[in-house]
Amino acid sequence: DQIEKGGYEHFMLKEIHEQPKAITDTFRGRMLAEDNIIKMSSIELNLDKFLNANRIIIVACGTSWHAGLVGEYLFEDMARIPVEVEYASEFRYRNPIITNKDIVIAISQSGETADTLAAIKLAKSKGAFVYGICNVVGSSIARETHAGAYTHAGPEIGVASTKAFTTQITVLTLIALKLGKANGSLADHTFKNYLKKMQLIPKQVEELLNIDEHVKQISAVYKDAKNCLYLGRGFNFPVALEGALKLKEISYIHAEGYPAAEMKHGPIALIDENMPIFVIATNRGHYEKVVSNIQEIKSRAGKIIAVVTEGDTTVKEIADHVIEIPDTEEALTPLLTTIPFQLLSYHIAVMLNKNVDQPRNLAKSVTVE
Ligand code: AGP
Repeated sequence: DQIEKGGYEHFMLKEIHEQPKAITDTFRGRMLAEDNIIKMSSIELNLDKFLNANRIIIVACGTSWHAGLVGEYLFEDMARIPVEVEYASEFRYRNPIITNKDIVIAISQSGETADTLAAIKLAKSKGAFVYGICNVVGSSIARETHAGAYTHAGPEIGVASTKAFTTQITVLTLIALKLGKANGSLADHTFKNYLKKMQLIPKQVEELLNIDEHVKQISAVYKDAKNCLYLGRGFNFPVALEGALKLKEISYIHAEGYPAAEMKHGPIALIDENMPIFVIATNRGHYEKVVSNIQEIKSRAGKIIAVVTEGDTTVKEIADHVIEIPDTEEALTPLLTTIPFQLLSYHIAVMLNKNVDQPRNLAKSVTVE
């Protein structure tokens, strides 16, 4: 067990630290930045289907569903293809409208999730082309789909998904870029710039992991909180949902993720001096609007922990704590902003003496509905 953990106290921490390598492995053979191309035979062989699709429907559960939501923002922004993201468990029982002009993308780390598998079978029976994004090679979902891409994250043992999430987003980004280039939605120079910035991501994640001690200190301050809010906008709204899920599942602290602007439609009523609020406020995404959301929280005495772009000065003055991430394109920030939240949940769970790798009531792969 100790050898498998590679010197880390828990699989989760090991897997958090494996992300620079996992993302690099996901790029390998696919992103050829020097040649300015993305090579993915599973997309190339089915390019007509993707380019002529009416829409893409993404089906998944849990963390993989959050990756799917990031995918929605990526596909719509980069490739201008309409996307819907569905909980597999709802989709399969809703008598959904699917035609042979729809593409269904199923995302699953384990490749064994019962609801996702059932959603795939339903979509196939209605004539849709189904593409899988899985981590486990040869899994049921990998075999049941018409085509697909592996994430190549390596085995993920901790029940709380970490490197599977970032590598799922990596694959989705590669596909969105490839389709955007193929259908002319992305100008050559924009595509090239994305590839250049993508290539920097593993190194930036590695750098970011050095904030561990800082995040640990913040965790010590908030470990006894009973409720937490996570806020983000745009590409980082799904990261807020994922941050809240990570905290819930391993530390058993109640947490909710919200789009920052939705706060005033309800959750703002919860804010008082006992409420920690984690806000993603990177400098390119609706920055001024998020700053004004932060001010609203401040005026209600909420505690603000903000994830900002390095060098930020505005939020630093208002927030109780800031965590800096390296600069990148807004569309790529989920690969960075998610890291501090993984570390935070990890440290809080350890401080509360919880079973980090095998939280109560949860299984690594959910093969029952
Ligand atoms: C993630 O931290 C969770 N344990 C869980 O939500 C998981 O993502 C979900 O069960 C889906 O699993 P899959 O990716 O293997 O299909």
